[in-house]
Amino acid sequence: MEDRNLALELVRVTEAAAITCARSMGQGNPTLSDQLAVNAMRIAFDNLHITGTVVIGEGERDEAPMLFIGERVGRQRRHDPPMDIALDPLEGTNLCAYGRPGALSVIAMAPKGCFLNAPDVYMQKVAAGPDSRGVISVEKTATENLEALANVRGVDVEDLTAIVLDRPRHEELIAEIRARGARIRLIEDGDVDAAIATCKKDSGIDILFGIGGAPEGVLAAAALQCLGGEVQGRLVFYKEAERERARKIMGDDADLEAVLTRDDLAHGEILFAATGVTAGSMLHGVRFFAGGCETESLVMRSKSGTIRFIRAIHDFRRKPYYNLEGLLQKMEDGGPL
Ligand code: FBP
Repeated sequence: MEDRNLALELVRVTEAAAITCARSMGQGNPTLSDQLAVNAMRIAFDNLHITGTVVIGEGERDEAPMLFIGERVGRQRRHDPPMDIALDPLEGTNLCAYGRPGALSVIAMAPKGCFLNAPDVYMQKVAAGPDSRGVISVEKTATENLEALANVRGVDVEDLTAIVLDRPRHEELIAEIRARGARIRLIEDGDVDAAIATCKKDSGIDILFGIGGAPEGVLAAAALQCLGGEVQGRLVFYKEAERERARKIMGDDADLEAVLTRDDLAHGEILFAATGVTAGSMLHGVRFFAGGCETESLVMRSKSGTIRFIRAIHDFRRKPYYNLEGLLQKMEDGGPL
């Protein structure tokens, strides 16, 4: 199947995960929300004509029952192309569990070897729109990056808005941005959505700073490859055990302190799909009504640069598995959604 069609197939998978976990919005149960998204995504993958390998996933086989790193997904028939897959069935688990904005279901897909096999550690990141390519860098201070971006845009630093995860580890970073006079949008979770927002002209967000998950860094890079934006990262280790984990995945010779460019994180012909779970700056969340629901998704291909927003109406009378009970039944029965 052609790439172009695969991109549209991919969105069915993120839709299934988003619809299912959106049922648990505000229930205050992050484990349930995550599990619903994982289960639905796993089942929906069975429809895809690929021989897929999860390279960024829920964790390793012993700690994640499904969608673990190394898991094979897709139909896996003889002519189905081998693809690497980076996914987060529910990016912003707490956002969904506590009914806050910005939760997404996300998948990126590329030919084998195109994604950094990122260990589940932290990553320092900086990201901004297309005009920041070659201008911002993870090696520069926040002040230097803000001044460089303001300069290339012909605006004052005071006109820029930075988006930062609200974490104690960012105290100094936030103080520095405040001191330089830029505005700040603090978010509780979800730095993939935040990275994408830097490329959306009307989002009001100019630049992302801070330390978040390394797997999310790869997903953000996949999205920004499609959008033409800039992103750089550098792995951050708080414990020796994390370094060990990184070596195990990236190899003994890997330079764990290296600056990771957008291409190091994700390159090649990338397909990206994300469906809103809770309403965010970019996508509506899942909206239920009698007998169905509406979803909004973003689908992109790096080759063509086409960005599609897809609104879909789902009729539960014809897709009974989107009811929670139906899904549980489907999981027992097996077979594709
Ligand atoms: P999950 O959905 O996997 O919980 O990730 C949410 C998130 O906010 C990411 O967007 C971000 O990269 C990471 O967590 C930050 O990690 P931490 O919450 O440990 O600071």
